[in-house]
Amino acid sequence: MELRLAIFDLDGVIVDTAKYHYLAWKRLGEKIGIEFTEQDNERLKGVSRMRSLDILLEIGKQTRTDEEKEQLAAEKNAWYVEYITQMDSSEILPGVLPFLEELRTQGIKIALGSASKNAKTILERVSLSDCFDVIVDGNLVTKAKPDPEVFTLSASLLGIEAEQTVVFEDAQAGIEAALRAKMLTIGVGEQDTLHEAHYVIPGFEEFSVADLKKVLALR
Ligand code: BG6
Ligand code: MG
Repeated sequence: MELRLAIFDLDGVIVDTAKYHYLAWKRLGEKIGIEFTEQDNERLKGVSRMRSLDILLEIGKQTRTDEEKEQLAAEKNAWYVEYITQMDSSEILPGVLPFLEELRTQGIKIALGSASKNAKTILERVSLSDCFDVIVDGNLVTKAKPDPEVFTLSASLLGIEAEQTVVFEDAQAGIEAALRAKMLTIGVGEQDTLHEAHYVIPGFEEFSVADLKKVLALR
């Protein structure tokens, strides 16, 4: 396989925004009388905003009309946006920048494949907007992960085949999406949670493009 494209999830792969999602959902939970823990927050990784709200309501055994849900999700998002607009490039996860630079030097295209509708704001805040050849986010796709749309669209916009693409993901739903897209799938995080991926790395600190090519050679 000739590697031509690397697609990155955003939240949990490039930056750790899970903590801000957590603070905002917890604040919403407090407002409507639902206790929301950090462990509960794990269930929201890679999951769309509306599905996340459904999970929160499920935890609190509450129901709401669609209109009320829209309003609650908007309220949570306003708080989340308050947090992310305070971000800067110091929040890029360790090893990510050198890895992106290495890909660029080797002529491998770089894409963002994120469920978030706030992806562009975050990339701007951490000064990474110019690093991506294509950005596919929650505003562009209609089907959320584990549907493969976000990844297949990234590759097709660049005219690159799935077999020439690698995906970096930290969430189970994202791993499933990448596997369904028939792309090489690298889990970023813990082996236990991400064992379905072709390969798992704890982060980018000790991972180079040469290491990636070794993984490819094993397939
Ligand atoms: C994903 C996060 O990247 O984006 C989820 O892992 C989040 O936790 C989803 O719910 C949607 O994000 P946003 O910014 O559109 O609310
Ligand atoms: Mg993620």
